[in-house]
Amino acid sequence: MEHTAAVILAAGEGKRMHSCRPKVLQEVLFKPMIDWVLDAAADAGISSVCVVTGFGREQLEARLAGRCACAVQEKQLGTGHAVLAAEAFLKTQAPQDVVVLYGDVPFLDAAILKDAYAVHRQNGNAVTLITARLDDPHGYGRIVRDEKGNVLRIVEEKDANEEQRRIREVNSGAYWFRTDALLTALAALGNENAQGEYYLTDTVEILAGQGQRGGIYVLPNAYAMAGANDRRQLAALNAIARRQKLDALYDAGVEIVDESGVIVGPDVQIGHDTRLLPGTILRGCTTVGKGCLLGPNTLLEDCAVADGAVINASQAYHAAIGSGVTVGPFCHLRPGTHLEEKVHVGDFVELKNTHIGAGTKVPHLSYVGDADVGAGVNFGCGCVTANYDSLHKHRTTVGDHAFIGCHTNLIAPVTVGENAFTAAGSTITKDVPDASLAVERAKQVNLNGWVRRRHPERFPENKENR
Ligand code: UD1
Ligand code: CA
Repeated sequence: MEHTAAVILAAGEGKRMHSCRPKVLQEVLFKPMIDWVLDAAADAGISSVCVVTGFGREQLEARLAGRCACAVQEKQLGTGHAVLAAEAFLKTQAPQDVVVLYGDVPFLDAAILKDAYAVHRQNGNAVTLITARLDDPHGYGRIVRDEKGNVLRIVEEKDANEEQRRIREVNSGAYWFRTDALLTALAALGNENAQGEYYLTDTVEILAGQGQRGGIYVLPNAYAMAGANDRRQLAALNAIARRQKLDALYDAGVEIVDESGVIVGPDVQIGHDTRLLPGTILRGCTTVGKGCLLGPNTLLEDCAVADGAVINASQAYHAAIGSGVTVGPFCHLRPGTHLEEKVHVGDFVELKNTHIGAGTKVPHLSYVGDADVGAGVNFGCGCVTANYDSLHKHRTTVGDHAFIGCHTNLIAPVTVGENAFTAAGSTITKDVPDASLAVERAKQVNLNGWVRRRHPERFPENKENR
C-alpha cells in the first residue's frame, strides 16, 4: 500500500473508563488497544503512522517508543481537531491517501483496512467510510444516506433526531481519505453541535457539499467495529477476543479441557496436541510447542516453550523453556531464565537470569539467580545462590554433573567445578575444583546422655532408681 499513511487518534482521556491511564492503554486480552490498532496498520503494509496523543501522553509515548510518529493535541476539542494536530505529519509525508483510525476500536484488522482501501481507490473516492449495521446502534454515529444510497453525513447520537436514531447503520470510526481532500475539509470544520467539539465525522458532509465523491465499505462482520468507552464495553471486547482466540486454537489442534479461566492473548502461538488446563493464562508474545501440558493455574508471559514441556501451577516471565522440561508445581521463573531440554524444576523454586543445562534437576525449595548451571547437575533441597552483596549482583557457575548438597549456600561470585560435590549445609565462598568435595560446616559434637541428665522426667523408667 504505497503512498498511504495512518493517523490514529489516541488523545482522549476516556472519562467513562474512570482510570488514570489513557483509554487506549486499556487492554484487551492483556494487549493495549493501541497495540491492536498499530499492528493492524503495520500488517496492512501502511508504512507511516502517526499517533495523536494528549491525555497521559508521557505514559502513551513510553509505550509507543519509536514505533511510530507522534503528534500532540494539547486540548481535546474533538476528533476533527485531533486529526488537525497531525497536519504537519500529513504534509511532510504527503501520502496520497490516509486512513484515520480510533485507538479505542481494536478489531479492525489488516484485511479490513486493505479491502476498504481497494473500494476507496476503485471508485476514486475522496472519503470512504467503514460502517456496519448493528441491531443496537446506541452510542455510535449514524450514517445518513440519500434515497439513492449515497452518503450525506454522519450524525452523532447526541445530535440525532428521533428518525436518525432509528438508523442502524453506524460509523466504525475508520475512514480512508484522499489526503488533500481531508485537509481542505478539516479547515472548514465548525463545532456547532451538542458537545461543542470539532467532529471528524462532519468532514463527510463538507466533502459532499463540495461535490466530492464519498463511498462506504460495509463490514462483513459487525463485531469488528466494537469500541470501548467504558469498563463494561471493555469487558465485552475481552469476551469477543477471547472467544475468537479459543476457537482459533481448537482449529489449530489445541485441547482445552475446560475453558474456565483459560485466557490466551491474540499473539500467542500454540502447537497441536498441547493441552491447556483451567486457569491457564498465556500472554504477550508467548509461543508454546506441540504436545505440552500447561496448567492448572499457570501464567506465562513472553515465554518460548518447546515441545513436550509440562508446566504445572507456575508462573514464568521472559523465560525460554526447552523440550521435555517439567516445571512446578508452584515455581516462579523470572526474566532471563533459560532451561535446556529435560530440565526438571520442582516445587517452590525461583529462578532468575539463569541458564540451566540439559537434564539438570532443581527439585525443591531453591533460589537460583544469576547463575550458569551445566548439564546433569542435581540440586538438593533448599539450595540458594547468594547473588547480591547489597551493592552488586554476581554470577554463580556450576559445572556439568555437579552435585549440590541439600541446603547449600553458594556465595557469588563462585564456581563449582565439573563433577564436584558440596556437602549438605555448606556455605560455599571459595571455588570448588572439578571432581572435589567441598565441606564447609562446624564439626559435630555429641554430648552423650545430656538429655537424660537435663530432663529426667522424660525417662519415667528411671524414677524409682533416683
Ligand atoms: C466516535 C465517532 C462516532 C463513531 C464512534 C466509533 C466522532 C465525533 N464520533 O464517537 O461517529 O461511531 O467513534 O467508535 O468522531 N480523541 C482524540 N481527541 C479528541 C477526542 C477524541 O484523540 O479531542 C480520540 C479518542 O482518544 C478516541 C477516539 O478519538 O480514541 C474517539 O473518540 P471518542 O470520544 O471515543 O468518540 P466516540 O464518542 O466513541
Ligand atoms: Ca469511542
